[in-house]
Parts: sequence; C-alpha cells; structure tokens
Amino acid sequence: MFDKDRFIHECMDAVAEGQAAIREIVAEAVSDGARVMSELGEPQHAGITPIYRSPDLTIINFVWAPCMSLMPHNHQMFSVIGIYSGREDNVFWRRTETTIEAAGARSLGVGAVATLGRDVIHSVLNPIGKMTCAIHVYGGDFFEPAEPRSEWDHETLIERSWNIDRVKSLFREAEARFNATKQSSNQFQPMQEPPRVLRSAEL
Ligand SMILES: [Fe+2]
Repeated sequence: MFDKDRFIHECMDAVAEGQAAIREIVAEAVSDGARVMSELGEPQHAGITPIYRSPDLTIINFVWAPCMSLMPHNHQMFSVIGIYSGREDNVFWRRTETTIEAAGARSLGVGAVATLGRDVIHSVLNPIGKMTCAIHVYGGDFFEPAEPRSEWDHETLIERSWNIDRVKSLFREAEARFNATKQSSNQFQPMQEPPRVLRSAEL
C-alpha cells in the first residue's frame, strides 16, 4: 500500500541502483492509483510539487491542467513517470541537424509507467478535460540539473534554454484558461421547460 514517506525512502535507497530499480517502485505505487490519490490528496491546482529533492534524486507530484501541453524538453538525467489519475500523452522527439522531429508517442493511462533515458526529448499533453496526476522521479536535481537543459518552442521547434519559471507559468496559465471556460459555460442557463411542440391547429 502506497505510503509517501516509505516511497521516498525506497527511492532514496534504490537510486544508486539506477532507473530499473526506481521503475519497480513507481510501478508498485501506481498499481493502486486511488491509494496514491488519497495519500497525496485530491489536486487543488495544476503544478509541479516536489515531494523530495536532493542532488541525485527528485520526486515530483505533477498535476497537469485539463487539455494542457508542455513543449518538447530534455532532462539531462533519467526519469520514471507513473500515472495515478487521468492520462498523459507523450510525444518523443529526436534531434536532426538543425532542429528536432517527432519520433514516437506513448499514451499513458492510470497504472502505466514510462522510463526515459537521460537524453530523451519529450513533450506532454493532458488530452482530457480533467486534471491528470503523475509521479515523476528523476535521477538528479530536477530544478538545478548539473548539465544545462533545453526546451524547444512548440511552434517553431527552435531550441532554447530550459526555464523553470516559464514552465511553472504554463501550468498556471493552463489552469486559468480551464477555469475561464468553466465560468463562461456556466453563464448559459439551461432551459427550464422543453420547447412546446405546436399542434397543426396553432400554426
Ligand atoms: Fe519531462
């Protein structure tokens, strides 16, 4: 049964063994997504919440806003992604001489686990109209990688330096956009009575 503190300690013990050992721990955790949700709490906001952070290990609770996407980026460290609610669509990219091109994709539902090597480039889409929640474990300090990280503009695919503040603001903007659509749809009042069908005599 998932327990946050035990999960952290298991990852701390396993990180030196590498990605495969972390994968097993994450797979076990997300095999009961509802349990992870009850332990970490129902998400109130989209965002990146660190659960544990050290130079060789970062554990993050990712909450993706409905229908949000994150531009292609690399990590410069291995990562393991486990989904405990919703769905993450990952597009994998490879470098070309001048830019990047899409090379594959994987859609991750509840209980699915993906392992990404240190050089992998991916972009992420939450394709559904509710929050998607995932545990991401990184073999390094996600927030201050030892080697500079890149991201690619989603429209032009031009490489630039990764910027954590830009990433955090993307989560905030995506949540605000979703809340705005909820408010505007609430302005339409449902009809109190179904339209009456006129009889031919009334026409
Ligand atoms: Fe990522």
